[in-house]
Amino acid sequence: MKVQAMGMLGILWLVIIFGFTNIGKARRESFLINCGTNSSVNVDGRSWIGDTVPGNNVTFSASGIEASTGTFGGNPVYEPLYTTARIFTDNLNYTFRGTPGKYFLRLHFYPLAYENYNANESYFAVDSNGLSLVSEFNVPGEILNKNSNLLGSGGNSSFTSLVKEYFFSIDANVIVVDFIPTKGSFGFVNAIEIIPVDDKLFNDSVSRVGGNGGSSSLNLNKRGAETMYRLNVGGSAINPSQDSNFWRMWEVDSSYMVNSDAGSEIRNRSNITYPSPNDTFVAPLPVYETARTLSNTEVLEKRFNMSWKLEVDPDFDYLVRLHFCELLYDKPNQRIFRIYINNRSAADNFDVFVRAGGMNKAYHEDYFDVISSKTNTLWIQLGPDTTTGSAGTDALLNGLEVFKLSQNGNLAYVQKYSNLEGKKTSKSFVLWVGIGAGIASIAILAALVILIVWFCKRKNKDDDAKKTAPGWRPLFLHGSVANSTANAKGSTAYQNPNGTVRSGRRFTLAEIRAATNNFDESLGIGVGGFGKVYKGEIDDGTLAAIKRANPQSHQGLAEFETEIEMLSKLRHRHLVSLIGFCDEQNEMILVYEYMANGTLRSHLFGSDLPPISWKQRLEVCIGAARGLHYLHTGSERGIIHRDVKTTNILLDENFVAKMADFGLSKTGPSLEHTHVSTAVKGSFGYLDPEYFRRQQLTEKSDVYSFGVVLFEVVCARAVINPTLPKDQINLAEWAMRWQRQRSLESIIDPQLRGKYSPESLMKFGEIAEKCLADEGKSRPTLGEVLWHLEYVLQLQEAWLHSNAGENSVSSIRDLGPVDEGECEVQDAATSYEEHSGSISVTTHRLDPTDPMAFGVDQFSQLVNQQGR
Ligand SMILES: *[C@@H]1O[C@H](CO)[C@@H](O)[C@H](O)[C@H]1NC(C)=O
Ligand SMILES: *[C@@H]1O[C@H](CO)[C@@H](O)[C@H](O)[C@H]1NC(C)=O
Ligand SMILES: *[C@@H]1O[C@H](CO)[C@@H](O)[C@H](O)[C@H]1NC(C)=O
Ligand SMILES: *[C@@H]1O[C@H](CO)[C@@H](O)[C@H](O)[C@H]1NC(C)=O
Ligand SMILES: *[C@@H]1O[C@H](CO)[C@@H](O)[C@H](O)[C@H]1NC(C)=O
Ligand SMILES: *[C@@H]1O[C@H](CO)[C@@H](O)[C@H](O)[C@H]1NC(C)=O
Ligand SMILES: *[C@@H]1O[C@H](CO)[C@@H](O)[C@H](O)[C@H]1NC(C)=O
Ligand SMILES: *[C@@H]1O[C@H](CO)[C@@H](O)[C@H](O)[C@H]1NC(C)=O
Ligand SMILES: *[C@@H]1O[C@H](CO)[C@@H](O)[C@H](O)[C@H]1NC(C)=O
Ligand SMILES: *[C@@H]1O[C@H](CO)[C@@H](O)[C@H](O)[C@H]1NC(C)=O
Ligand SMILES: *[C@@H]1O[C@H](CO)[C@@H](O)[C@H](O)[C@H]1NC(C)=O
Repeated sequence: MKVQAMGMLGILWLVIIFGFTNIGKARRESFLINCGTNSSVNVDGRSWIGDTVPGNNVTFSASGIEASTGTFGGNPVYEPLYTTARIFTDNLNYTFRGTPGKYFLRLHFYPLAYENYNANESYFAVDSNGLSLVSEFNVPGEILNKNSNLLGSGGNSSFTSLVKEYFFSIDANVIVVDFIPTKGSFGFVNAIEIIPVDDKLFNDSVSRVGGNGGSSSLNLNKRGAETMYRLNVGGSAINPSQDSNFWRMWEVDSSYMVNSDAGSEIRNRSNITYPSPNDTFVAPLPVYETARTLSNTEVLEKRFNMSWKLEVDPDFDYLVRLHFCELLYDKPNQRIFRIYINNRSAADNFDVFVRAGGMNKAYHEDYFDVISSKTNTLWIQLGPDTTTGSAGTDALLNGLEVFKLSQNGNLAYVQKYSNLEGKKTSKSFVLWVGIGAGIASIAILAALVILIVWFCKRKNKDDDAKKTAPGWRPLFLHGSVANSTANAKGSTAYQNPNGTVRSGRRFTLAEIRAATNNFDESLGIGVGGFGKVYKGEIDDGTLAAIKRANPQSHQGLAEFETEIEMLSKLRHRHLVSLIGFCDEQNEMILVYEYMANGTLRSHLFGSDLPPISWKQRLEVCIGAARGLHYLHTGSERGIIHRDVKTTNILLDENFVAKMADFGLSKTGPSLEHTHVSTAVKGSFGYLDPEYFRRQQLTEKSDVYSFGVVLFEVVCARAVINPTLPKDQINLAEWAMRWQRQRSLESIIDPQLRGKYSPESLMKFGEIAEKCLADEGKSRPTLGEVLWHLEYVLQLQEAWLHSNAGENSVSSIRDLGPVDEGECEVQDAATSYEEHSGSISVTTHRLDPTDPMAFGVDQFSQLVNQQGR
């Protein structure tokens, strides 16, 4: 690209001239027109020339009205461009003297209120070179529609202007943009941008979805296209100034994901190359530097899709362009996946490494699909291809563009603005932000922001109804937040594209500081790999454990996000629950319920605390097993804790055991780490040897660790104690030797001597031994462990009853629904039945919800514990 500065009419302005690979061709110019004024402005690094500036090669057929709104409440970068507009009550043609070829045309609209003209009453059509671009177009209506998607993002983005983008080819020497107001109404335009495209941006032949390998011709010489979506997947927004080829805006994708938990963001900025110089035009490098891959939410197998759901206009053909760049693997066959477009397979056996010809190579693939008149959604889904023998089931996407193709010279979808009825209040508030904000005092502005947040929260409730009204979609909107990175961050933190509301509370940093006495060291109750844990009292007097990530570590944002989403969905009596989080100022803080009695370990050894009884130990083990059993079976795909140990079993004031740290302790699979490094997670002494050998993570690894916990509970010693004789260092090995000889009582915690039922200890030892079986498949499931522990507890209670008569506990415990009333996720109920000595656990499906959601709250499978 070559940038030349030219002095012209006393105004310095820039003409952006695009570099071609073939120099011979005449240079083609772009037009950047600031409408309704004779002054030129510098915006986003380019100079926009006034439409009445003489010699600008632009003419218009009727002068219309030059409107100057003077004030502005939007993105300050665009303020100079958007404070003037040309209003027309009759047809108005803009004619640009150009050369034949392909162009991007962008129309910029900023809702105005000028004299008697209020943008919410404007309706107009736009044609260009025989192509109908929009008809019955109402700018606030379109903004409002878009706002309903985005305003949920923390309420900090009131979009005030929108841009529509088209791509077409002309064979004449002029480009005519024709604005036609609806009778009795008026139209307006703030800026027009025409960018020549001399590169082969599109290959005419594109594979057709569901076409059995066939392809369709785009015929873009005759047809026009409208850009519907342009997303930088897994990264932050890319502003036009960062895409110096065509000044395209790339939005953040997360708000379009059906469940953003399903995809983790990865990035690598090093050394990405384009296969050929021509490809540098396809997308700027930042698109390829970030991506989304299937999340590794501690699931056994990645058996889910990453899904993007995009609203489109029915009855049009679409071009879907997917951008890929393998950032992680330096050999083929590591990541093979399937691509689905509208639930049909568009590609399978897709290996980016192979297709792109290596790692860190930019690559794109186009697909052609037809959206019928019956639907207004376009689903893009990427998921594992289980039919291939790839090393890992994973998928990757870096960027996504969707273009609508014209049909018989028409790109306009006639919109039903009647749907705006009943939204008048919120609409006028959106307009208020646009119009009045500049003059309003800061206080009034703040009040309006609050009102808008409130209105939009209310409005989001009837969003589903609105979704039947398709077609209002600008390419992008300029928000009042100029800092797109901050915006993107905010949105990953709080966007809930699926309408899923986080149950966790969002704390301000000030609240956290108040709760922890400004992170007073004396309130520290623990230190982990993640950071420090403080005891705090939140405003309503609730005690909380506040876990603060090391502020220096800027990694782990994605994991932090995933954890919040996951943990706030997990609710169980035997899991430590998340109260909320704080993500202000780069902090990553999690607020958990406070567990007054600390870790199980502290009640076994190594502290001054009084020893706990055998019965209490059994109850704690049962509680922990229930928590783990819930993790393993409660969700469709199961969650593997991976760090089961006595310091992760916490006790509340009533000695109810809860599993903690299911998540952040294993700092997760970001960037370069995925399956490989999962192998080394866990704590020494508790690690499943099979997991070590085969690097394959299953629920049975947790069972192994839980077995070690059981021995620790009996012996009350550290799992690794290097000060002991060699054969005693490792508790698991040592205790197993005694257990195999059926003499576990020889090594039992002296504190328990004479206070336990020998039968219960024998049974307990057998369970622990089974858990430590060398092969995962020989180990019981946690459901089985749980049931056997219940039985052990009965033996102990019966013994207590007959011996000392400690209390009046019935010796026959109810074998009925074990978890009834404890599982707070409403859509499941688990019942246990005994069948000739073995256990079967059935999870009843009560409320099958959205099958798409990859949520841990999806209790929908019939689980046969024996079959696992
Ligand atoms: C622009 O127009 C205003 C009046 O509309 C006029 O006063 C001013 O001189 C013009 N500026 C230029 C550079 O033509
Ligand atoms: C108008 O067109 C002429 C001839 O194509 C060109 O030399 C001149 O630079 C153009 N002016 C502007 C303002 O683009
Ligand atoms: C605008 O242009 C179109 C086609 O180029 C033409 O049919 C129409 O008459 C023009 N309108 C005006 C007001 O010049
Ligand atoms: C909105 O974002 C800006 C900049 O990111 C920030 O300064 C401001 O406090 C935010 N306002 C609200 C209401 O969150
Ligand atoms: C790049 O594009 C030009 C035409 O735009 C074409 O002639 C040339 O062969 C292309 N180069 C490559 C490497 O594809
Ligand atoms: C266009 O696509 C066809 C088949 O889909 C392929 O053979 C051809 O090489 C592509 N052309 C370019 C320039 O990429
Ligand atoms: C960058 O890529 C080029 C070509 O793929 C390669 O020759 C070079 O060694 C790479 N540099 C680094 C630092 O990886
Ligand atoms: C992924 O999406 C496709 C298309 O909707 C569907 O057929 C497939 O079953 C999904 N795969 C998984 C694992 O959910
Ligand atoms: C495509 O699949 C999604 C979920 O996988 C579903 O919600 C949607 O209705 C399906 N669409 C069609 C047209 O079958
Ligand atoms: C348009 O805005 C005006 C004033 O801002 C308001 O009185 C009117 O009700 C709005 N019209 C609609 C259809 O919302
Ligand atoms: C990025 O990729 C390069 C190889 O191109 C690799 O050496 C480097 O470790 C990667 N960095 C990260 C943070 O993954």
